[in-house]
Amino acid sequence: MKALILSGGKGTRLRPLTYTGAKQLVPVANKPILWYGIEEMVAAGITDIGIIISPETGAEVQAKTGDGERFGAKITYILQEEPAGLAHAVKVALPFLENSPFLMYLGDNLIQQGDLSYFLQKFTNQQQEALILLRQVPNPSAFGVAKVDDSGRVLQLIEKPKNPPSNLALVGVYFFSPVIHHAIANIKPSARGELEITDAIQYLIDEEKEVAACQLEGWWLDTGKKDDLLEANRLILDTYLTSSIIGDVDAQTNVSGRVQIGKQSQLVNCTVRGPVVIGNNCYLENCFIGPYTSIADNTTLIDADLEHSVVLEGAKVAGIQQRIIDSLIGQRAQLTIAPRRPKALRFMIGDDSQIELT
Ligand code: TTP
Repeated sequence: MKALILSGGKGTRLRPLTYTGAKQLVPVANKPILWYGIEEMVAAGITDIGIIISPETGAEVQAKTGDGERFGAKITYILQEEPAGLAHAVKVALPFLENSPFLMYLGDNLIQQGDLSYFLQKFTNQQQEALILLRQVPNPSAFGVAKVDDSGRVLQLIEKPKNPPSNLALVGVYFFSPVIHHAIANIKPSARGELEITDAIQYLIDEEKEVAACQLEGWWLDTGKKDDLLEANRLILDTYLTSSIIGDVDAQTNVSGRVQIGKQSQLVNCTVRGPVVIGNNCYLENCFIGPYTSIADNTTLIDADLEHSVVLEGAKVAGIQQRIIDSLIGQRAQLTIAPRRPKALRFMIGDDSQIELT
């Protein structure tokens, strides 16, 4: 059994962060999203992993993630020259996948830990041509949707239907036998010009191959947008964070709840209410850091009040009078108060940024 993680794509929904970096490397609880998937696979016993990368962000993904040794896996990087669709990515990965059954996993998705082993076992025991994971969603029109019979057999897949036949959305996790390559060779690009994996699976269904579905009961998040990312951050901190204070915390600082503070970080006169994770080499002075906040390495926060937010590496927040909530602050971004006259707001805001002032 091999695994294929899709970590190419355009990442338009998470702009401006994805102008400068891969969306799969955006951290959730200070760990790149992509790494959660890798860890899940290794825990399920799959260690031969291929990662699809794009020309724009591939080098960054490769440099950060490495050859797999840190995960106990062997990682092979596969360049997809253009984001021509999920099925196209499988086509490009054929020399890596060869004749092996494989797990396909979208690199910006997160599923609850522990679930993968269960589904893998189901797939290997029942010898289907494909096993797809589904989850009930309130807004099926925004997803690929499946029509399933009582025995769990998939009858039809429809991409973003206007009149959804069910509320079961396709989660970005699929198990395939090598027969999928034959299906992909026989489909044409969709109206949006992509080779769609839903069309390839539909081809299998039309050929009367065994395509089964399993419902995911645990949580699933597609981290493509800001609010999804904040929700993923909340869930991971809520479920998995354990306390560990390695950095330097002065006597005036009050830490309560589950909190991690990394090495060479310094907290002066702060209040921190977990769950909160603060990375390495951060400096925080006169701050309130409220629940569900993740602060990456090398950040500086002075006179700042933050809650339910994610701050990326090298950012600086200083002197902001109001509480910052539900926010995503990008790498090296600066949000400060300057004691300059005339008293006014001065911005340098990147393309596609969102700022809400009251
Ligand atoms: P999507 O989120 O569907 O597509 P995208 O990355 O182009 O994102 P956006 O909608 O924000 O523009 O892709 C799901 C995952 O699959 C994501 O991790 C990117 C990856 N992917 C590839 O590796 N190759 C591709 O050709 C496509 C379309 C996506």
